[in-house]
Amino acid sequence: MMTLDNYLAEKLDILKADGRYRDFAVIECDADFPDVTLRRGQFYGRATVWCANNYLGLAQSTMVKGAAMNVLNDYSSGAGGTRNIAGTRDWHDRVEQQLAQMNNKPAALLFTSGYVANWATLATLGRHLPQCIFLSDEKNHNSIIEGIRAAGCGKVIFKHNDMDDLRDKIKHLPANATKIIVTEGLFSMDGDSPALADMVQIAKDYGALTYVDEVHAVGIYGARGSGIAEQQGVADEIDIVQGTLGKALASMGGYVAASRLMIDFIRSHANGFIFTTSLPPVLLAAASAAINWVMNNADARHDYLKQVKKFQERLWHAGLIPHRGQTHLSLVPINNPHHCNQVAHMLLERGVYVQPINYPTVPKGAERFRITLTPRHTRDHETHLIDELSALTRRCPVFNHTAQIKA
Ligand SMILES: Cc1ncc(COP(=O)(O)O)c(C=O)c1O
Repeated sequence: MMTLDNYLAEKLDILKADGRYRDFAVIECDADFPDVTLRRGQFYGRATVWCANNYLGLAQSTMVKGAAMNVLNDYSSGAGGTRNIAGTRDWHDRVEQQLAQMNNKPAALLFTSGYVANWATLATLGRHLPQCIFLSDEKNHNSIIEGIRAAGCGKVIFKHNDMDDLRDKIKHLPANATKIIVTEGLFSMDGDSPALADMVQIAKDYGALTYVDEVHAVGIYGARGSGIAEQQGVADEIDIVQGTLGKALASMGGYVAASRLMIDFIRSHANGFIFTTSLPPVLLAAASAAINWVMNNADARHDYLKQVKKFQERLWHAGLIPHRGQTHLSLVPINNPHHCNQVAHMLLERGVYVQPINYPTVPKGAERFRITLTPRHTRDHETHLIDELSALTRRCPVFNHTAQIKA
């Protein structure tokens, strides 16, 4: 008879055979980010991080870290309770007001992560709104998928960024259903965005609400930095904007921003908001400093995007990426899990840390590297990455440099 341990080991062996087993690189000190001390397997040493979502490098800035250190003198290290029971601080109000302002919405609500913000909000809306049906992009993030699943209501999946398919599907839904179109402002694994003005028009034509996850875009795009909807000029037409404090905003936590009534409704019904310890002031103070910086430094953010553009020119000329200049994310398709892992492993031995992106994050056969430049990377860092990646992909039997350049 098979024991539980045998069963567990067998399941893990399947992941290993598929090249999908996750082993973590442990960063020991990142004060000099992107240069860090790191250990992984046999490797122990210095490496440059090329896969962090701390896009603007604010998590290492003395401004953000200083803001966090200052509040530790006056507040506890943990919040010590849920928002309802002893866990609310003035920092929650302050950051919610900043997020409302950044999104130009009347109100915002904090969650303990971007994942929880999606999961709790979508589950709540789907459970409580009358005859709710979600229309969800097929490439939406797992937190959206799980939120919709937890809602247990109707759902229709439309083709990725395909507004014709969305229109075809929504027109068959009952007129009196509560329809919510859910998409991402920037799909981080593909580096593309939907035409949100078209989506808004469809929502208007069929009386639907719109929900946009700006997790990978917040802090970078739009005059206030709220994301792609703002950059595309339709932010005011989006009913619910969701985002994270954990990437460009240099801290941890998630949020939704919407009308006062909608936020009050979610605050009062979302289990993932109600029944969990709230974010501590130290994280909120860091996020607050980062939001403030983002809202007041559109020029610096613009310079960052110019830096990305030049970097992507270099990657493209080296035959490493098929597309350039679209977003701050640089995607190197390897299209094989074992080769992706192998190249990542060899890169680390050469002081370059990029994490292979494998199934189920991307489809099988579409494995890739997602390279993230920050303002803290220098031209020397870039040259090092490009030289090493070019040398290794040239030796990789499945990587085709010419195909990248032609694409
Ligand atoms: C599109 C998207 N939404 C939500 C999340 C979850 O955000 P967080 O990391 O703050 O939990 C992620 C995480 O990477 C994401 O990619």
